[in-house]
Amino acid sequence: MKFDTPAGQNPIDQLKVVGRPTDRIDGKYKTTGTAPYAYERHDVAENQAYGYVVGAGIAKGTVRAVDTAAAKAAPGVLAVVTTLDVPKLGLGTMNYANLFGGDRIQHYHQAVAVVVAETFEQARAAAFLVRVDAAPEAGRFDLAAEADSAPPVKADSGEGSGADGAERVGDFEGAFAQAPVTLDETYTTADESHAMMEPHATIAAWDGDRLTLWTSNQMIAWAKGSIAKILGIPKQNVRVDSPYVGGGFGGKLFVRADAVLAALAAKAAGRPVKVALTRPLIPNNTTHRPATIQRVRIGATPDGTITAIAHESVSGNLPDGGPETAVDQTKLLYAGANRLTALRLAHLDLPEGNAMRAPGEAPGMLALEVAMDEMAEKLGIDPVEFRIRNDTQVDPNQPERPFSHRNLVGCLRLGAERFGWDRRDRRPGQVRDGQWLVGLGMAAGFRNNLVMKSAARVRLDASGTVTVETDMTDIGTGSYTIIAQTAAEMMGVSLDRVVVRLGDSDHPAAAGSGGQWGANNATAGVYAACMRLREAVAQRLGINSADATFADGEVRAGNRAVALAVAAEAGEIVAEDAIEYGDLSKRQQQSTFAGHFVEVGVDVDTAEVRVRRMLAVCAAGRILNPKAARSQVIGGMTMGVGAALMEKLSVDKRRGFFVNHDLAGYEVPVHADIPHQEVIFLDEVDPTSSPMKAKGVGELGLCGVGAAVANAVYNATGVRIRDYPLTLDKLL
Ligand code: MOS
Repeated sequence: MKFDTPAGQNPIDQLKVVGRPTDRIDGKYKTTGTAPYAYERHDVAENQAYGYVVGAGIAKGTVRAVDTAAAKAAPGVLAVVTTLDVPKLGLGTMNYANLFGGDRIQHYHQAVAVVVAETFEQARAAAFLVRVDAAPEAGRFDLAAEADSAPPVKADSGEGSGADGAERVGDFEGAFAQAPVTLDETYTTADESHAMMEPHATIAAWDGDRLTLWTSNQMIAWAKGSIAKILGIPKQNVRVDSPYVGGGFGGKLFVRADAVLAALAAKAAGRPVKVALTRPLIPNNTTHRPATIQRVRIGATPDGTITAIAHESVSGNLPDGGPETAVDQTKLLYAGANRLTALRLAHLDLPEGNAMRAPGEAPGMLALEVAMDEMAEKLGIDPVEFRIRNDTQVDPNQPERPFSHRNLVGCLRLGAERFGWDRRDRRPGQVRDGQWLVGLGMAAGFRNNLVMKSAARVRLDASGTVTVETDMTDIGTGSYTIIAQTAAEMMGVSLDRVVVRLGDSDHPAAAGSGGQWGANNATAGVYAACMRLREAVAQRLGINSADATFADGEVRAGNRAVALAVAAEAGEIVAEDAIEYGDLSKRQQQSTFAGHFVEVGVDVDTAEVRVRRMLAVCAAGRILNPKAARSQVIGGMTMGVGAALMEKLSVDKRRGFFVNHDLAGYEVPVHADIPHQEVIFLDEVDPTSSPMKAKGVGELGLCGVGAAVANAVYNATGVRIRDYPLTLDKLL
């Protein structure tokens, strides 16, 4: 189904099932421990052996030899595969670092061997007997030291992009020089780890030359193609299955060493092998959100009209790796005639930098929205009002290109009212509550809404059950539930008549879970397939599908009503389709918006920061399931608190690795850190996003929150910290 114009009325608009705060279908399985995660799928293949991964102890260099004699002689050991046993393997989708094979080490904890044994304990014990002889080389590990010489990344939009790689509109330098009020500040954000609860894990089994991977992955079609490419086997010989994913946050967008090594180990051992990356291996062996150094310049007239805005960011990565696109939102969020955005990328020999929840916007909004707070103070204008004055309804880089729907102003106004913003003292450091200095802060929230092809198959059987099959994943987001709600609405059945099967590469390829594009696109694909199924049911009954309505488990036309079970009596009715958008996103800018409001307390003696309450008001099109969407947003808000106050991978700049590579050293917020969160969704639809009229929220909840926290800390204390996370040592 091609979708490229605003949707009219359609069956989803009935909102009998869609739009309700239905409990997560998978919730009871997950909370009772009965949802099998990849490593726990004991029943999918018999005789599973255990693999244990050995990571390199150097950051860069060459493996000269690997002595496996002692490991192979250890009790229970079935096989040892070392990186010298296989040639350098290919790269998968969005993957820049060598996962295995060959003698080159690109980063610390790159996999150099996998030991396979009868039990996990035997594999682990033997892994410590593997002796790796590696010759280290000097590497570059310090972003700050490399920043000045980092080359520009050429802007992808050809128009207005100069030889320096910057994207320009008007004359930024001239307008900034003439602006009566200016701000020029630099902000730094830390390397961050996804820290999802379920580690990367895979069970691999070969049947002749056919490989099945039971794994934990966000993007099944990518995973299937990547594994085929990495191992050099035909794609049709690979099956990937990932029905439950215990969190991903972008760390499972692609296949990692667990999948590749499980496949190689299973081949070597001649039986199925399961491999989980241990927690201490994950931060250095897999990917992370790269640190950034960001410079923001804003020029404005005294009435608060932005006349010049520039945002430049430098980050680092391995050769061939990409930049953290931290300036993206600054192209779109505020009006201003003269603009400049630019990215630079340093070569670092740290582990692979890659997507983590809201890549680009998450650290970019932290810098931009603190800069906006600083600028509002310089102007003597309320920060809510300053943002409202600079709202835009068109893409400021291409004024002929409108936002499909944009109500940032509504989010900010309602948020200010509900949060009690008028009670904020705009002079910092004025409010005391016993031991605590209390401050209020706010920021805008912004994240793009991406449309992309997504397919599904639906079946109606003689029991009246509707079964949906797609390779879409549920990474804890509620995909099972909103897909079931969509199919129930479309086919006029109750939720308990719908079965949803996800995560299997034998199913039609969906958009997958990433970039907050999953909910809108995957359900729109199910909508498209259900439209076909409605036609097929009508055809089976010899009625015109335009005359047919589907309700209460029946299909009705004129004065005829047939139960769906009866319609399928002569055999199952199957339909498949995909949603496709053509060049829709070129013609319109689709984004999601929020107002984030935070109250903090800062201990007057210790400078400990405690978040006291948080509010997010979100404008994200139709909310398919307010309960699941709220959970996504409060999860994002929690991650925003982490970015502002805690999360940082500390770099050992001599040896080149992340030192705090476990959950004892890498701090993330826990329940006790988050006392009160409220989420309000503006009642809106975006008819241009898809037939669902919905958008993503999973990343919107994060973007801007860190800045709101930092702005609240400033309001509480009068101390402006521009280096995140904002730990208490920086406040003292
Ligand atoms: Mo997201 S970082 O695209 O899973």
